[in-house]
Amino acid sequence: MLKTLQTPGDTSWFTHDRFGMFIHWGLYALPARHEWVKQREEIPDDVYDRYFKHFDPDLYDPGLWAAAAAEAGMKYFVVTTKHHEGFCLWDSKLTDYKVTNTPYGKDVLRPMVDAFRARNLRVGFYHSLIDWHHPEFVIDDIHPLRNHPERATLNAQRDQRKYVEYLHGQVRELLTEFGRVDILWCDFSYPSRPGFIGKGRDDWQSEALYHMIRALQPHIILNDRLDLDEGWDIKTPEQFQPRTWVTLDGQPVVWEACQTFSGSWGYHRDEASWKSIDQLVQMLIDTVSKGGNLLLNVGPTGRGEFDERALDRLAGLGAWMKRHSRSIYGCTQAPPQFKAPQDCRLTYNPTTNRMYVHVFAWPYIHLHLDGFAGKVEYAQLLNDASEIPMIGLEPWQAAHWADQFKDTLTLNLPVQKPNVTVPVIELFMK
Ligand code: GLC
Repeated sequence: MLKTLQTPGDTSWFTHDRFGMFIHWGLYALPARHEWVKQREEIPDDVYDRYFKHFDPDLYDPGLWAAAAAEAGMKYFVVTTKHHEGFCLWDSKLTDYKVTNTPYGKDVLRPMVDAFRARNLRVGFYHSLIDWHHPEFVIDDIHPLRNHPERATLNAQRDQRKYVEYLHGQVRELLTEFGRVDILWCDFSYPSRPGFIGKGRDDWQSEALYHMIRALQPHIILNDRLDLDEGWDIKTPEQFQPRTWVTLDGQPVVWEACQTFSGSWGYHRDEASWKSIDQLVQMLIDTVSKGGNLLLNVGPTGRGEFDERALDRLAGLGAWMKRHSRSIYGCTQAPPQFKAPQDCRLTYNPTTNRMYVHVFAWPYIHLHLDGFAGKVEYAQLLNDASEIPMIGLEPWQAAHWADQFKDTLTLNLPVQKPNVTVPVIELFMK
């Protein structure tokens, strides 16, 4: 099997579990038009404070969120403890800009961690390096105040070192007050370049932050957005599907694609580009067929609920995973000698030595598997364990068909596509 670049964190469970839930929740759920709304609309703090004053997710029940994730087949979750707006979901001692000071008045992070752990999901924290509310965070070229006429004067009163102290202090809180944390998802660095003032490793003091993180939770899986060349555990392609296993300098790495149901990470009421259940199931399969993980995002509403569109997609994913999860968990890219047939993806479980053929377009009665001849002991449809006959070539066929199917295993399929989102054929390899 492919050897991936060795990294400090424990990714053994991660590359087995494959599928996680991303949760983007904050004040931006109230304007309900993207989590970058403050930046895009250049909303000043005194105007944006209306959302702080009205944040009251009275229907919040993290048990329902955890159930939806578990029943969708997700094995870990990553929640925004603080997004770029600077609002904190836990009772941080380092700021007043936190959920306990809103009308809701209670910590939402701790009950969420408890609820997801109760459903045996591992815990991940997304923590924004960026903070568009903190008074010491120096205004740069993506900040909501980037075009403020007094930007230079404002910055003269700001000390990024004080913000760094705050940033490191909050990461320390998150890694010492919530028990074992399996993933830390820092977001994101945008180093300065000619004509652009951004922030990178020096602005976060990333080296020192990294050493603190490793000292507090050495096993933790750390993503790749601290602007450090080393120390990360996963590469994080976002909002697109990699064409192959993600590599760095030619070396395969552990990778996780993060994707949204629609075009927004935060709750977006009017955003219409919601992916279908077919697209989402195919995305999960395609990701695992290339040795990756999928972190699929939900943006809860300002009332504290997953909206019906999200619940619909999660239910559809769960219905497929109920009968097909063993073609995902513990699976990875197929060994190179096995080629996926047209309109199919392969996943492979090296422990059970079973191959899974995910059929995205149901063919007429035959499925030809190049490279599989003589290598499969038994084949069945995964959804109902009904046998799929394997057709050896009759001598006269071999004569007629010459070399066309020489190294090919041909499967005899039912004419009708099984009534599942993506049918899967389980091959028991010899
Ligand atoms: C991008 C977006 C940010 C989101 C993140 C998730 O960085 O700007 O809003 O949280 O992607 O990966």
